[in-house]
Amino acid sequence: MADADDIREGNDFGIGIPVPNQNFYLKGHDNAGFGIKNRMANMFNKKSGNSVMLAFDHGFLMGPTSGLERVDLNILPLAPYVDVMMGTKGMVRSTVPAECETPIALRADAGTTLLTTMNDNECMSVEEALAMNAQCMAVMLSIGCKDTEATTVKNLYRLADKANPLGMPVMGITAVGKEMARDARYFSLAARVCAENGANIVKTYYCEGFEKVVACTPVPVVIAGGKKLPELDALDLCYKAINAGAVGVDMGRNIFQSEDPAAMAQAVSGVVHDGLTPKEGLDMFNTLKEA
Ligand code: R5P
Repeated sequence: MADADDIREGNDFGIGIPVPNQNFYLKGHDNAGFGIKNRMANMFNKKSGNSVMLAFDHGFLMGPTSGLERVDLNILPLAPYVDVMMGTKGMVRSTVPAECETPIALRADAGTTLLTTMNDNECMSVEEALAMNAQCMAVMLSIGCKDTEATTVKNLYRLADKANPLGMPVMGITAVGKEMARDARYFSLAARVCAENGANIVKTYYCEGFEKVVACTPVPVVIAGGKKLPELDALDLCYKAINAGAVGVDMGRNIFQSEDPAAMAQAVSGVVHDGLTPKEGLDMFNTLKEA
């Protein structure tokens, strides 16, 4: 057991030094099998190395929030503009047409809603996710939440144990609770715990000092968007995260609650894949919005 009275904070993250001897283009996956690499390559653009994932899984926790009242009307038209669609099995099965060419990431845990405490969830089966041709299964970890941390860490490592040998990548989502600090120290801890327990992708939040979070996480890191921001601020968030080493976004509200979700999806993609600055992204948004 670690000595809790002598935890020395890391201070040498080798920021800017690439991971040596990597052949596969996604961090930490040289030793993965064909199925994992193939699914990862379906989600992350081979040229930019990055991904725009559209998260619309909020309903399983929050119900029909703004922008998700009708997934068929609000979300499906955005599929051509993103690299991955991330939703729950119920919504994907009922609403996404089987002809959809955009890869699916499945939100794979459930059990509580906003009316109760932080997620203390069960995971869906890997077989069902494989049957749905999912490219990845995503589960939440509530690190630092004393009531649910152990359950959610167990969910991740048990899921990774089952999913990885079957060629299914797992994404660990770092939760943010009211009592948790939103800083590089917390997100580094949470992201690292996800990776050490078998996550192939870590989804976390952008913060000051984000380079450290990315540097100490041995697998690809993407950011969630969080609450709706003005478009320029949301594009700025994407820009800063990519420049700090994130390889994409798994973004929901800042796209589907935008005044023009299709224009925003394309502007986010411009920043994530094509290196647009936030200002250039906003110009693109305004041009597409007016078209
Ligand atoms: C995570 O657990 C949520 O369900 C969302 O997938 C995530 O927060 C991304 O969405 P947003 O960009 O709206 O925060």
